[in-house]
Amino acid sequence: MTPDIKPLIAGNWKMNGLTAALSELRIVSDAVTPAIAARADVLLCVPATLIAQASSASYGSPLMIGAQDCHAAVSGAHTGDISAEMLVDAGAQMIIVGHSERRADHGETDAAVRAKAEAAIRAGVPAIVCVGETAAQRQAGKALTVVGGELAGSVPDSANAETVVIAYEPVWAIGTGLTATPDDVNEVHAFIRQELVLRFGAEGYRFRILYGGSVKPSNSAELLAVSNVDGALVGGASLKAADFLAIIGV
Ligand code: PGA
Repeated sequence: MTPDIKPLIAGNWKMNGLTAALSELRIVSDAVTPAIAARADVLLCVPATLIAQASSASYGSPLMIGAQDCHAAVSGAHTGDISAEMLVDAGAQMIIVGHSERRADHGETDAAVRAKAEAAIRAGVPAIVCVGETAAQRQAGKALTVVGGELAGSVPDSANAETVVIAYEPVWAIGTGLTATPDDVNEVHAFIRQELVLRFGAEGYRFRILYGGSVKPSNSAELLAVSNVDGALVGGASLKAADFLAIIGV
């Protein structure tokens, strides 16, 4: 945790969830009381198909609903794509961009991710910009170089702590059950903080830097206690309300 930064616990349902899954979301939205939300912002990034229903289902709760990706353009001839404005119109309050699964599955470059982050900001919601090295890159001693390059390329120049959240997600820890050790997380998060301060000056101290990669109830407290860890991006464990709530500390 960083003093004076309100943590963000964000769930990422990925390509999981039909209408029936809203029952899990309702359990979360009922449990996230204003008292809990005063301690931490809580977000669930559901599939685009569920954003409108999830927003209605959580109406009146401080639980925020988010999206997992957006197109960079406002509108146009991009069959099947969804603009940030459309996601916000449906109820999205934050948008994840540059998740490693999108970088890998869709060949998204840093420039593409930056354009998507700018689109989220243009649409009026914060972008959660994901960065992280692969196992091979870490073994080659290049973790910080890769993370630094992705940060430089993916975070817009206009970013500030209100418009951009950084998520450090080592690719080898996503969905694998493997988590980075607190020492590894500490090293990378301190590096990200330093890079943000170099680029954005004092504002760099205010950005939220989330950790993601096999965060679960059994390891979340230890990871969230690491300095410069200002929250978590939770995949698999966000699908079950009980697990997600345990990570929030409910
Ligand atoms: P995981 O996913 O928690 O299932 O490892 C994290 C993520 O990809 O955001």
